[in-house]
Order: sequence, then C-alpha cells, then structure tokens
Amino acid sequence: MSLEDLQGIAKIEKDRQEGFKHKIHICVAAGCLSCQSDLLKAAFEKEVNIRGLENWVDVKGVGCLGLCAAGPLIAVEPQGTYYRSVQVTDVSEILDSLGGAPVSRLDGSSQLPFFKRQEKIVLENCGKIDPERIEDYIAAGGYEGLYLASRSAAPSEIIEEVVASGLRGRGGAGFPTGLKWTAVSKANSSTKFIVCNADEGDPGAFMDRSVLESDPHRVIEGMAIAGAAVGASHGFIYVRAEYPLAVKRLRTAIAQAERLGVLGNNIFNTPFNFDVKVRLGAGAFVCGEETALIASIEGRRGTPRPRPPFPAEFGLWGYPTLINNVETLANIPPIIRKGGKWFASIGTEKSKGTKVFALAGRVNNTGLIEVPMGTSLREIVFDIGGGIPEGRNFKAVQTGGPSGGCIPHQHLDMPVDYESLAQVGSIMGSGGMIVMDDSSCMVDVAKFFMEFCMSESCGKCVPCRVGTTQIHNLLSKITGGDGKPADVRMLEELCDLVKSTSLCGLGQTAPNPVMSTLRYFRDEYMAHIKEKSCPAGACGMGGSKEAK
Ligand SMILES: Cc1cc2nc3c(=O)[nH]c(=O)nc-3n(C[C@H](O)[C@H](O)[C@H](O)COP(=O)(O)O)c2cc1C
Ligand code: SF4
Ligand code: FES
Repeated sequence: MSLEDLQGIAKIEKDRQEGFKHKIHICVAAGCLSCQSDLLKAAFEKEVNIRGLENWVDVKGVGCLGLCAAGPLIAVEPQGTYYRSVQVTDVSEILDSLGGAPVSRLDGSSQLPFFKRQEKIVLENCGKIDPERIEDYIAAGGYEGLYLASRSAAPSEIIEEVVASGLRGRGGAGFPTGLKWTAVSKANSSTKFIVCNADEGDPGAFMDRSVLESDPHRVIEGMAIAGAAVGASHGFIYVRAEYPLAVKRLRTAIAQAERLGVLGNNIFNTPFNFDVKVRLGAGAFVCGEETALIASIEGRRGTPRPRPPFPAEFGLWGYPTLINNVETLANIPPIIRKGGKWFASIGTEKSKGTKVFALAGRVNNTGLIEVPMGTSLREIVFDIGGGIPEGRNFKAVQTGGPSGGCIPHQHLDMPVDYESLAQVGSIMGSGGMIVMDDSSCMVDVAKFFMEFCMSESCGKCVPCRVGTTQIHNLLSKITGGDGKPADVRMLEELCDLVKSTSLCGLGQTAPNPVMSTLRYFRDEYMAHIKEKSCPAGACGMGGSKEAK
C-alpha cells in the first residue's frame, strides 16, 4: 500500500458517494439494533429498489447517532434531518419527502440543541460512515495519520505531537498520554506491546462500546500509530465478551486492514510491522485495571498487582507495554493529521480536547454525547440533555461511576474538566454521567455503587474485600431504618481506611460515592437515622409523598 493507493481508494469512494442525490443513514449500533433498525434498513433498501432509486438514494447502515434512547434513529442528507423512533411503516413517507420538507409528524429536525451544542472529534465519523467498510473510513481521511506516522523520520516527532496536544488518558485517571508514550518509547527492549483497554465495566457507561461499534478502524489506526511511535509491533484489544457487536466489527475491521496492508508487514512500504489481536474478557470490572488486564491477557486470573513496576517498563509477558483506553486511542489519528496544537486549542488550560459522555438517568435526551472540556454541567444536563422529565427537580449528577461522586445543584455551573470535578469531590472517570432527580435517595445511590464494588472486589486485599462489605452493611442498615448516629462516624472512618490502604484503584476509589453523598446530602443520611424517613420516598420507610 502506498499513499497513492490510499488516496485512490478515498477518491473512488468519495466519487461513489457524491453520485447519490440523497443519503439515508440508519443507525446500526447496538442500541438501535435492539429496536430492529436492521429491519428498517432492509425496508428502505427494498422500497428504494421498488422505486428504481438505487442510483439516487444511498441507504447506509452507520454507527451511533447519539440519541440512543429514541431509536431507531436515522439521518437524511443533504436535508440535514434526524428522525427518531422510525418504524418500517414510515419508510414510504420519508422517501416521498426527499427533496422537499421533512416529515413533521416524525419530529424531524436538525436544529435540536442535542446535536447543535456538541463538538465531535472522537465521534466525528459515528453516524456518518459504515463501520463495516474500510473504504468509507479511508474516504473520511482514515489511515492518513498512520501514513504520516509510519513515514516519520523520527518516532520522537510523533510523540512530540501527542505531548503538544495535551491529551490525557480517557480511561479514568487522566494521565498525560504523551508522558506515557515517552516512557514506553524509552524502555530498552526490542519487543514491546500496545494494549487497547476496552473493558468498560462502569455501570451505565457505553462510550467505548459505541466507538468500537461505530468506527472500529479509528481505534485500530490509533493503536498502529502508537506502535510506530514507541517501537511496538504487536497490539491487543481487550474487550468484554458482553460486547458481541463491537467484537464482530473489530474482527471485520482487522481483517480488512490486513487485506489492504495497513496492518501487517512493511506498512506503507516502510520497515514498520504491526498486527492487532482481539482478546475477550469475561466481564469482571477489576480486569479493566491495567495489571489485572495484563494478567488476564496472559491467561492468568485477572487480579491486580502492586505498581511499580508499571506496565510501561514491565507489562505483557514482562515486556514494556503501552496501555491506553479506546477513547484515548481514537483521539490519536486526528492529532497526527491536524497537529497537537490544533487539539490543544480545544478545551481548558489543563484539560484539552473533548470528552465523550454516556448521558443517562433522569434526563430527557439520554445517549452518547461529545463536548469540549470545560462545558458546564448545566449545559450538558439542560441544553444537550433537554432537562429533567415530568417536570421534576434536578438533584445531582453522578460522574465517574463507582469511583466517582455525586455533584449537587450548587455546582451546576462548574466547567466539566479533570480539575474542577476533583475539586467538588468527583472524578471525570471514563465518561459515565447519570442524572438524578428528587425521586432519587442519595443514601440508596451510594449503596448501589458500594454493592457494585463489593461484588466486583477481587478479594486479594483485606481493606477492599472486608471494607466494602462493612460499608455496604452500614448503608443497608441506614436505608432499612435501623441506622444510628454513630454509624455515620463509622462510615467515614471505614471510607478513609479503605481509600488509603487498598491495593488497587477499585478499593482506593470505592468510598468516593459514599464520601461525596455524605458531603452534600448529609441531611438525607440523618433523616433516615433520626426521623426514620427517606426524604425521596425511595427506601420504603415513608418520606415525602411528593417524591414518591
Ligand atoms: C477497577 C478499575 C477498572 C478500570 N477499568 C478500566 C476500563 O474499563 N477501561 C479503561 O480504559 N481503563 C480502566 N481502568 C484504568 C486502567 O487501569 C488504565 O489506567 C487505563 O486503561 C489507561 O489508559 P489511559 O491512559 O488511556 O486512560 C480501570 C482502573 C481500575 C482501577
Ligand atoms: S483493592 Fe479490591 S479489587 Fe483491588 S486488589 Fe484489593 S481486593 Fe482486589
Ligand atoms: S445506538 Fe442508535 S443512536 Fe445510539
């Protein structure tokens, strides 16, 4: 494969696409497929054939369009219309409307704040390209970044761009990606590995799944660029087996990339070789922790080990290993194509670029969104998310999943970036964002996350194994109406202990939801304990009728 070959494929595909007058993009990511968007696509294809419009109307399956809860979703171009909850019975009317006004009955609109307020880098191809066709990815500029990286005179130039971009790891901790790449590149070994962490175990999180289902080549290209930069020839994608569609599309994409020669030996006629293999996880949350993940890929039981040594120096089978999250790697190709400076111009001083969030819970527009770092929580919940349903009141946003915290009303105007979230007692995490209204009991929410950590604790160290169970027992006691004032003190002591003495991030962050709800919603804990009532009316012990 040469640059001319790549450009040739892009040109043929672009010419083909430009030949169509109208485009109907039907979401075939998991959310919409669960509403039978595959049947909808087949119905559009059939009707287009019956009408003899095959050369005029392009019916294409695409990745997630974002408004997942309103699926099946379709986008019509160049009309610029989105339709939600489309049925097979709507097909004829939509085809009739092409070239004219959108079907208002179907709530067609391109002006929804949900779409207008977002800025897409990671998701720029989602909803536009067919995730099962490499040609479509190439026509969108795909593999140009890999071309530049593999032809780069010095791998350090690639790393310099990543450093200049200010990109921080999207897997949770926000570690500077350029620093990590520098460490692996400096490790003295002829064998190195790239690992893409697609374990995504946080409850409510589906960002990485959507990226893999919608734009798998983007992640593969990011891995290959990383390989060229740090001197690695082998990559593994560790993805949970519960994501069968993501796994299928990844495998298809790898086979296509190998066929075209953008994976394999002598990529772009250079000495650079890189291959990618998929490894399936069985769904243990702890296997997302990097040392447990390494053990799992090696075929051992997935439990964390103390660090140092860090994987950058002692990773897979003892070799230097670069581990990055799906979203981190998906940011890499545009950074290499457009430059680190371009990326650094988006976001805030210390948090660059955009962030993808899985917006869920008590909010009108649930789905997948991407916003520049620094966007306010209010804008996310009320403009993009469309506010709280049924006229109820906003209570809190939970970010960072089981490692994060609950952010109350008074912080709605804070910018969403790594520093600001930490200041209010939460974390960015991987991008789960759950909105809660006044019917949510915050003690119960803390109990839910603690139950998750308790069940997912691998049991290797005592503070986490025993501590999460003890904290969960205390929370159950309080929500059950048997709590005593001393239990709150005990909760705080246990949280401190588990946080400071656990071996890995699971235990070290498991107390966060309890600590943040104690910080902002202490009165709810005290109402359960002193008045034996749940203010939200959620714990079956009486409470506000309003909230029931
Ligand atoms: C319990 C636990 C679960 C984790 N799960 C994930 C995960 O599913 N995906 C992920 O990318 N990182 C996860 N991490 C963070 C990884 O250990 C690691 O920091 C990350 O993959 C590094 O990639 P990044 O620098 O691109 O963020 C988890 C950490 C812990 C402690
Ligand atoms: S903190 Fe929890 S999950 Fe991590 S090693 Fe200890 S027991 Fe296992
Ligand atoms: S899965 Fe279809 S819009 Fe997200």
